[in-house]
Amino acid sequence: MATVVAGSSVPGLAMDIAKKLGAEFTCVSMARFPDGELHVNIQQHRLPGKVYYVQTMAPRPNERLTEILLTCDLLRDLGCREIVAVIPYLGYTRQDYRRMQGDAVSVGTLFKLLEGVGVVELVSVDIHLHRLGVEELKAMTKIKITEVSAMTELAKKCPSDDVVVVAPDSEAERWAASAASTLGTSYGVMEKHRVSPTKVEVSFGKVDVKGRKVLIVDDIVSTGGTLIETAQLLKSHGAKEIYVAFTHAVLCSTECVANLFNAGISELVSTNTVQNEFATVNVAGLLASALP
Ligand code: R5P
Repeated sequence: MATVVAGSSVPGLAMDIAKKLGAEFTCVSMARFPDGELHVNIQQHRLPGKVYYVQTMAPRPNERLTEILLTCDLLRDLGCREIVAVIPYLGYTRQDYRRMQGDAVSVGTLFKLLEGVGVVELVSVDIHLHRLGVEELKAMTKIKITEVSAMTELAKKCPSDDVVVVAPDSEAERWAASAASTLGTSYGVMEKHRVSPTKVEVSFGKVDVKGRKVLIVDDIVSTGGTLIETAQLLKSHGAKEIYVAFTHAVLCSTECVANLFNAGISELVSTNTVQNEFATVNVAGLLASALP
């Protein structure tokens, strides 16, 4: 029988997945040495079957990655026959090209590391695929990658009457198309230029928002800069109310949440790929149905 092993980041989501699969469930005990190194322990002495290891990569992505590597290697030591990594929010995917000479391309390194500790399959939600498509991502690694999208479920939680969907940049167009189709409405795409990790410039795309409700959709909200710029721009073009649906609530500071509300956003709707207060969509069912 398969076992779901929960990492330290989203144990509740891991438990929901185990219930849906009717699988055994166990979790990793995590501690920290005085110098900050992580200590990982699994109570079982043998885990010979297939393991679905559930661990997300926020907050503290560096620590989460270390925990993933230590745990997967341990699972092999415990006799695990097949490790399927269920990483709802797959971090380190935004650095997918060499922006400046000398930059590390972290997405490539991530897959090399996961492969190195025996991950054979990876299931994730709304992966950050901007410059790379899913096929290019698959070509980078022997790991079998499956991506599921939460956008249909997110859109169902949002207002549907006289709403128009907006993507803050061209990369988010696939999610805007999906949300618009769920709500039976149209969508528009803004243009975004990233000036720095905390600053973006957004320019208006062709879409009629005057006097209408607008639903902005995106994969990740981190500093909130993208949403704030987009919301202000839409307001200046006459948008009546602004709602936001996004998959991964990375939300890297409390100020970020305050700034989002001060930018005139009425409601934020998110998933539980990262633990957060705006999670109204539980992705356990989506993930469980995608597991091999
Ligand atoms: C960018 O490419 C992503 O799709 C998100 O728009 C971005 O990560 C959001 O980051 P922030 O909230 O810091 O603007």
